[in-house]
Amino acid sequence: MRFVSIVGARPQFMKAAVLSRALRQRHEELLVHTGQHYDDLMSDVFFRELEMPAPDVNLGIGSASHAVQTARALEGLEAVLREQRPDAVIVFGDTNSTLAGALAAAKLGLPVAHVEAGLRSYERDLPEEINRVLTDHVSTYLFTPTATAVDCLRKEGIEKGVFHVGDVMYDSLLFSLRRVAEVEASVLAQYGIAAGAYFLATAHRASNTDDAQALGALLAAFGGLDAPVVFPTHPRTQAAIDSAGLAVAPNVSLLPPVGYFEMLALERNARAVLTDSGGVQREAYFLAVPCVTLRTETEWPETLVGGWNVLTGTNVAGIVDAAQRPRPQTAPLPAFGDGRASSKIVEILERDPPNR
Ligand code: UD1
Ligand code: UDP
Repeated sequence: MRFVSIVGARPQFMKAAVLSRALRQRHEELLVHTGQHYDDLMSDVFFRELEMPAPDVNLGIGSASHAVQTARALEGLEAVLREQRPDAVIVFGDTNSTLAGALAAAKLGLPVAHVEAGLRSYERDLPEEINRVLTDHVSTYLFTPTATAVDCLRKEGIEKGVFHVGDVMYDSLLFSLRRVAEVEASVLAQYGIAAGAYFLATAHRASNTDDAQALGALLAAFGGLDAPVVFPTHPRTQAAIDSAGLAVAPNVSLLPPVGYFEMLALERNARAVLTDSGGVQREAYFLAVPCVTLRTETEWPETLVGGWNVLTGTNVAGIVDAAQRPRPQTAPLPAFGDGRASSKIVEILERDPPNR
């Protein structure tokens, strides 16, 4: 069978890498990068580390408003898909590249396979929520990471084509653990931090970065923590800190974005992780590291069970208390599958081939 897989932004590269490895054992795959993310540390580093095939096509759409970015990707993807006419088009997650890929394929009558289907925050203010709802509603295959996602789809009347396979991010983490173990000591030494004695932070959601008051509150909370805070900074966050002239406390180290193995090493050894990232929330849970989610809702409610994840929004005292809370006593539950989501996806595509 022939597939086109579409990626564009950081959290899609590791998902595509793990699926590509399974897919390419028996099938042809053309990998298309929209170019939504383009800095070396936001894109190329993942291809190098995960030994991914280079994208066959890079559309180079770059940064722009939602409409312009989505429209550029839509136009470029339509041309590629019209020429390739694959058996199915694979899209990941909930970015503008995901929506553009799903829409371009569906309008050409090509089956869409959505990896990470059924996630909902029920917050239409989030651009990702719009992307994922629309993508799910034009998809032929809806590969869900959690049981909650299956329920969310059912509530919207989507039952056909739903396959509960587990989370490809968990597959990717298991695949990467050996490499993480190899780099972990040097990563901690590089930043002068000790295992269990620092916090790790990330933030990039528009609601946290485009509002100087919200971003200022996050930085104030990090500054109020009783240990060093390592903060690999998304370019939009760094730009927002610079343009608002926000103060950064001496215990907070702003770093450029880090590579995937380095990031997992920093997560695994942190006392707690503070984040608004969907991927980082789950990775903290997989690694049994307490998480503070800098949002008021999560698409990953399984991570809240047992107190492993706590939602704080931008409340300064709430963030400090949550980050310094005692470690949960019960082990995280195996709610994200068995680490074989990607091979299950390939088996389903083979067993239930797209009919068009
Ligand atoms: C996008 C996704 C978000 C995902 C995140 C992962 C959408 C709507 N949002 O958000 O769901 O969680 O990626 O990181 O698709 N920039 C650079 N270099 C880059 C990429 C971005 O400097 O390589 C800067 C640009 O100033 C750009 C800004 O970051 O305007 C935002 O990038 P964009 O891709 O539009 O959205 P993200 O916030 O990265
Ligand atoms: N990540 C990384 N380096 C960083 C920040 C994040 O490798 O500096 C990884 C992280 O470990 C996870 C993925 O990127 O695997 C999550 O991407 P991001 O937070 O950008 O997007 P989201 O998951 O929120 O859509």
